[in-house]
Amino acid sequence: MKMKICSTALLVILLGFSACQEDDPIVGCDPCIDEDIINAAYAPQPYELEVPEWFPRPVIPEDNPMTVEGIALGRHLFFDPILSSDSTQSCATCHDPQLSFTDGNKVSRGVLGIDGRRSSMAIVNMAFNTKGFFWDGRAATLEAQALLPVEDHTELNENWENVVEKLKRHKEYPAMFRQAFGIEKKSEMTKELAVKAIAQFERTLLSYRSRFDQVVWEQQGWPTDAEQRGRDLFFVEFANNSLDHPGCSHCHGSALFTENNYFNNGLDSVATLSDFADYGLGEVTNNLYDNGKFRAPTLRNIALTAPYMHDGRFNTLGEVLDHYATGGHGVANEDANIQPFTLTEQQKQDLIAFLNMLTDTTFVNNPAFRNPF
Ligand code: HEC
Ligand code: HEC
Repeated sequence: MKMKICSTALLVILLGFSACQEDDPIVGCDPCIDEDIINAAYAPQPYELEVPEWFPRPVIPEDNPMTVEGIALGRHLFFDPILSSDSTQSCATCHDPQLSFTDGNKVSRGVLGIDGRRSSMAIVNMAFNTKGFFWDGRAATLEAQALLPVEDHTELNENWENVVEKLKRHKEYPAMFRQAFGIEKKSEMTKELAVKAIAQFERTLLSYRSRFDQVVWEQQGWPTDAEQRGRDLFFVEFANNSLDHPGCSHCHGSALFTENNYFNNGLDSVATLSDFADYGLGEVTNNLYDNGKFRAPTLRNIALTAPYMHDGRFNTLGEVLDHYATGGHGVANEDANIQPFTLTEQQKQDLIAFLNMLTDTTFVNNPAFRNPF
């Protein structure tokens, strides 16, 4: 249809009627070039997430079905510093695929050089989480989550209005938005569509090819003795009624190594529940009893995501295990499963050998998850 109008306009010029017609709705004074119309085909290809049978079913919002084109757009936006105020940082600055989409820092530092208060989180198997995003669960969906880093002054420190203007002026993005969402004009490019695309890309970031998956679920090969002993220490199923057991799977269970629940895992010794430096879940619910509770994150790729905990307080998995072995501080809302247990040097090494089994090099090296630029 558009082509037809354009060729008519050309014809008009060729025939010598090139005078500017103010009321011409399409071509104005510049035939064939309406800055606002996007020339690209819209033929989105549905994308089927490949999920192994030992995983739960993914949760894809009805108003944001995944398409090849949507994912491609989201991937570009994720890696593009155009989202930051000074074009120095992208989402990937703090979510590096090689580090299972974390940044290796204690806490993250944004474009202004200001440290945030929390440690970057792995973006892994997000498609299964229905219990809130961030350490404190304050974003209900990935779409809602993706709106926040752009305007956070400790992160990208930009505002969405500017970002959308930059995207409209860009030579590729208008066509990519059209291919992904079928819009016809640049004026239809919005932050809501941008975050839908980012969320689509994030939902593709599935990790299920670790050594643990191969050995346990695909029955290829055998665990080493250390891995086997570490597994028995990790999973409560192997506790044999012993109270002196680490019981990690109480909170980091299931094939995802998280059920996305919130706990106080005994990190801080505080006199009252109002004394936590970071209220975590309590900041979201305004419930005193939720202060100091954080989401138990997945332990998949945990060997790649140091430093650990919401504030990056532990540098190594050994330090994490030492913490759990002490059994917390007896603070009122500490979870009942935070109990002291014996941790010999051998057991520590065994648990670490087990946690190392959760590293998925296929995931971190997946070309589809890398910087597309
Ligand atoms: C300056 C570093 C930084 C930048 C830039 C950044 N993030 Fe993050 N990201 C973090 C930190 C820190 C957290 C945890 C914050 C919290 O819990 O309050 C986080 C958390 C997340 C989570 C939550 C994961 C989960 O399991 O709940 C997602 C998803 C995410 N970021 C995606 C993005 C996207 C998309 C962008 C770009 C639009 C982005 N991030 C930009 C540092 C950053
Ligand atoms: C009562 C529930 C609970 C138990 C039991 C538990 N954890 Fe955690 N774990 C959590 C929570 C909650 C967090 C996040 C805490 C925070 O950052 O404030 C966490 C964080 C971690 C982290 C850091 C993750 C990251 O991305 O920084 C590691 C590693 C970890 N746990 C390993 C273990 C191991 C190993 C065990 C068994 C020895 C264990 N956990 C037992 C709830 C638990």
